[in-house]
Amino acid sequence: MKLIDGKKIAEDIRTEIANEVRKMIDNEIKVPHLAAVLVGEDAASQTYVTNKEKACKEVGFISSVYRYSETISEKKLLEVVEFLNNDEEIDGFIVQLPLPKHISPGKIIRAIKPEKDVDGFHPVNIGNMVLNLQGHVPATPYGIMQLIKRSGIETEGKHCVVVGRSNIVGTPVSILLSRNNKNANCTVTLCHSKTNNLKEICSSADILIAAIGKMEFIKADMVKQGAVVIDVGMHRIESSETKSGFRLKGDVAFDEVSKKCSMITPVPGGVGPMTIVGLLMNTLKAAKKEVYN
Ligand code: GUN
Repeated sequence: MKLIDGKKIAEDIRTEIANEVRKMIDNEIKVPHLAAVLVGEDAASQTYVTNKEKACKEVGFISSVYRYSETISEKKLLEVVEFLNNDEEIDGFIVQLPLPKHISPGKIIRAIKPEKDVDGFHPVNIGNMVLNLQGHVPATPYGIMQLIKRSGIETEGKHCVVVGRSNIVGTPVSILLSRNNKNANCTVTLCHSKTNNLKEICSSADILIAAIGKMEFIKADMVKQGAVVIDVGMHRIESSETKSGFRLKGDVAFDEVSKKCSMITPVPGGVGPMTIVGLLMNTLKAAKKEVYN
């Protein structure tokens, strides 16, 4: 069994991006600028945004955060989106989710200019992805595709089973893996909470992607000998063995599954570090006007 080292692959990509930024500076081209809109005090959202700022700094991007109280109205937030859409200094931005209940995330996402939607959540970007046209691809699926490509995992003709159909991960990754291009060309089965015979379907996967959001849901008896397993789950549990007092677990029962598969992503250090890298890649593309030009 080989571990798929997401931390190392993410580092490699960040180095490549930093080199591109250095070239931009040498050629007196404006460096990419990523903005994030953060509404309210949700602890996980604060951490995500701080990590995005850190990653931007590391590669030489400019980053800015627009913070608003959770009482901000939907109308005012739409005005913020419009302001960022029109600010030429900003290449791409994200509105951190979840939003307070009185704000429709769909309305906000639809208001973002597709060329600046570096989360890849806008229906135009999703549509382009389905049609195999250029656009921004959602960050985590983008990161997963990079993991697969850079780990030399054979995909053509393989049966890929995706467990979980979220808009952010399961659905887009199932589309990307079934596309007619290199590093894709899989036969994809998209499973979810209502799937019958889940164990049998998972056991027939050459590549199994676990994105169901349930801790250690995928057990060894659901995995084919020699399969590649990609674990998108991230669950914080208390632990007396770590300084921080917690540790992360995935959607896959790692100890038992890792004995059966040929390759697996660990948690942490697998898919996790690739999400921000996906966002940085989209932002670089937006700054270079490589999409929607
Ligand atoms: N909340 C959790 N993950 C994400 C993400 O990738 N993008 C945004 N905008 N919000 C999130």
